[in-house]
Amino acid sequence: MSGVARIGVSLAGDLLEAFDAWVAREGYATRSEAVKELVRQALIRKEWAGRGEVAGAVTLVYDHHRRGLANRLVGVQHDFQKIVVSVQHVHLDHHNCLEVIVVKGAAGKIQGLLGKLKAVKGIKHSALVTMTTGKEIP
Ligand code: NI
Repeated sequence: MSGVARIGVSLAGDLLEAFDAWVAREGYATRSEAVKELVRQALIRKEWAGRGEVAGAVTLVYDHHRRGLANRLVGVQHDFQKIVVSVQHVHLDHHNCLEVIVVKGAAGKIQGLLGKLKAVKGIKHSALVTMTTGKEIP
């Protein structure tokens, strides 16, 4: 189905009040924009739970002075080279580096990469942003 369709949603008063407060807090221009985003997020979660191709970004913060750490990170990324699309490295300060690893492939493989990266001793922070390749979601 193409084009835009209008739908009606019935909500209890207190739920609508909480939703409107959330919409304002998050900075959405309208309820419709907020609902669209929520629907997309739900569909992306479903993609990540399935077997299709997904995309995302792994972010890491670490101290590059820690012996062997940077080499181990590169080694893990080479082991997963088929799903690593690009890597951006930012020198945050004298010690700390931020790395953003853009990934695309099977969700299970991406989770596997994340697990191996998290297991590298000395990683201070890691997070995965789950996105979609956009193929399945309009
Ligand atoms: Ni650095």
